[in-house]
Amino acid sequence: MMPAGKFLWMNESLINGALARPLESSMLEAPGYAAQEGEMPGLVSDGRPDMIRVVGLNKFFGDLHVIRDVSFSVRKGEVVVLIGPSGSGKSTLLRCINRLEKADSGVIYIDGIPLGMRKKGDRWVPASEAAINKLRSEIGMVFQRFNLFPHLTALQNVTEALITVKKMAPASARSIGMELLARVGLSDKVSSYPCQLSGGQQQRVAIARALAMKPKIMLFDEPTSALDPELVGEVLAVMKDLAESGMTMLVVTHEMGFAREVADRVMFMDSGQILEDAPPEVLFRSPKHARTRSFLQRIAHS
Ligand SMILES: Nc1ncnc2c1ncn2[C@@H]1O[C@H](COP(=O)(O)OP(=O)(O)O)[C@@H](O)[C@H]1O
Ligand SMILES: [Mg+2]
Repeated sequence: MMPAGKFLWMNESLINGALARPLESSMLEAPGYAAQEGEMPGLVSDGRPDMIRVVGLNKFFGDLHVIRDVSFSVRKGEVVVLIGPSGSGKSTLLRCINRLEKADSGVIYIDGIPLGMRKKGDRWVPASEAAINKLRSEIGMVFQRFNLFPHLTALQNVTEALITVKKMAPASARSIGMELLARVGLSDKVSSYPCQLSGGQQQRVAIARALAMKPKIMLFDEPTSALDPELVGEVLAVMKDLAESGMTMLVVTHEMGFAREVADRVMFMDSGQILEDAPPEVLFRSPKHARTRSFLQRIAHS
């Protein structure tokens, strides 16, 4: 059997054809350029650089137009919660940012660099596979299903990519792994296999595993929705701690308490578009769109 890390990396190669077909060169002339105040509704302009900047993103599945000309930014250190009905395109948007999906048009800048491109002289050209993989490794992703390797311990799950991808010495990887498992409150579970851990513990291992790659950005796709209710809090607590440490986070969740308490902004997505983008107290108290209102009512009563 192939080592788990190899397998992961193969997937990365597979998606490598994925280059956001693009690209008006005018869009690309100013990577690292930060949104001007008033340029995008809902953005708080406080001078922080954009860590994620999405411009005019479109994604089709066959005839289905799943992401419709979506533009937004997430500043460095900002926590943005993305809400919206099932099927509205939230996962697809995250997957485009992480390049698990190929966007059909538009540009995604990660920390000022257009995803999939590199500068050659004064032109942007498709980046090499290695450069794309490096950029992708700066984006951690945590899924609804924890996707841990069942045959590896908690510690091995966290250190696997460090050893196989980053070629780190096992002893160094181990010390990083121990530190990260301590950070998510699992020092006593380093030798446990996923089947010996609760869902909440598995999800915390998955977060530690993502953090091991030292991402600049963490994407969460409904990280608590597969958990028993009593286990949700421990995962949200880890995420809150991460937010307080200054991590840039884009989080799809229906945990409105978390959004209220931790998010700088909440974006409401419907039918492939971001209809609203506002601080939680504004969006929850006085949503502008009827569709946002009815979604929030449905969530509150479910
Ligand atoms: N790989 C795929 N192939 C075809 N259609 C897809 C694929 N992934 C998602 N979709 C469709 O795209 C739309 C958005 O899905 P998704 O991004 O998963 O929404 P959400 O995460 O908001 O529930 C849905 O209509 C879904 O059925
Ligand atoms: Mg989804």
